[in-house]
Amino acid sequence: MNASPIGIFDSGIGGLTVARALYDRLPHESTVYFGDTARVPYGPKSPETVRRYSIEILDWLVGQGVKAVVVACNTSTAHALEALQAHSSVPVIGVIEPGARAAAAASAGGAIGVIGTAGTIASNAYARAIQRARPGAQVEQWACPLFVPLVEEGWFEHAAAELIAREYLEPLRRARIDTLVLGCTHYPLLKPLLQRVLGTEVRLIDSGEETAGAVARALEADSLSASGGAAATHRFAVSDDEARFRQVGARFIGDRLGRAEVVSLG
Ligand code: DGL
Repeated sequence: MNASPIGIFDSGIGGLTVARALYDRLPHESTVYFGDTARVPYGPKSPETVRRYSIEILDWLVGQGVKAVVVACNTSTAHALEALQAHSSVPVIGVIEPGARAAAAASAGGAIGVIGTAGTIASNAYARAIQRARPGAQVEQWACPLFVPLVEEGWFEHAAAELIAREYLEPLRRARIDTLVLGCTHYPLLKPLLQRVLGTEVRLIDSGEETAGAVARALEADSLSASGGAAATHRFAVSDDEARFRQVGARFIGDRLGRAEVVSLG
């Protein structure tokens, strides 16, 4: 079991930011990544639909022999984590709890901003997790749906991206947050822009990076870690448009992105 890969899934390409954080934190662990490129985006979809898609992907990953599953997608974590955990025969780890805990610990004054897709923000999952970790925290949430297509276009520093970021972040700036959770797979690629717009005194929390630490701890606790000498292999699968996945995905993880197989679910 310890030599088995970790499954990682996302609505599409964005989860590669979480995969990258896992490769860095756990260099001996092999992975199987599934991106649901046929049905992306999950952000505007109903909780029921996101749960159904997420369970189909979990079943596929478990069928590939994974020893644990990382839900890289914030929207899936928000709507489906509990259902996935109840359904799964292997441990399932989401991105919200690790990001929320890190923000609760990092914030000096307890004014914490959260940005994500419309679905993640409407679910209140981050706000609840932050309140659990730090009762009394003041949580300001804002949906930033236009950030996903901007990142996929590679417009990390484009003037249009800056204009949109200023508009979206203004309520958070006015609320004088001291910490901001990047509650969406794509947002880590906008870090320099967001930091510039908010000012260097605001701490940015990357949920994907925090999740990599949580996965390492979960594997150790369950005695599932790969042995130190193991050579890691990384497999990729998508539900559509392999060529675009590879082209855009290279912006996320560079030449670690191999050819992806195309799998149809549902
Ligand atoms: N992966 C999604 C998330 O982290 C963003 C893209 C989408 O809307 O599917 O919430």
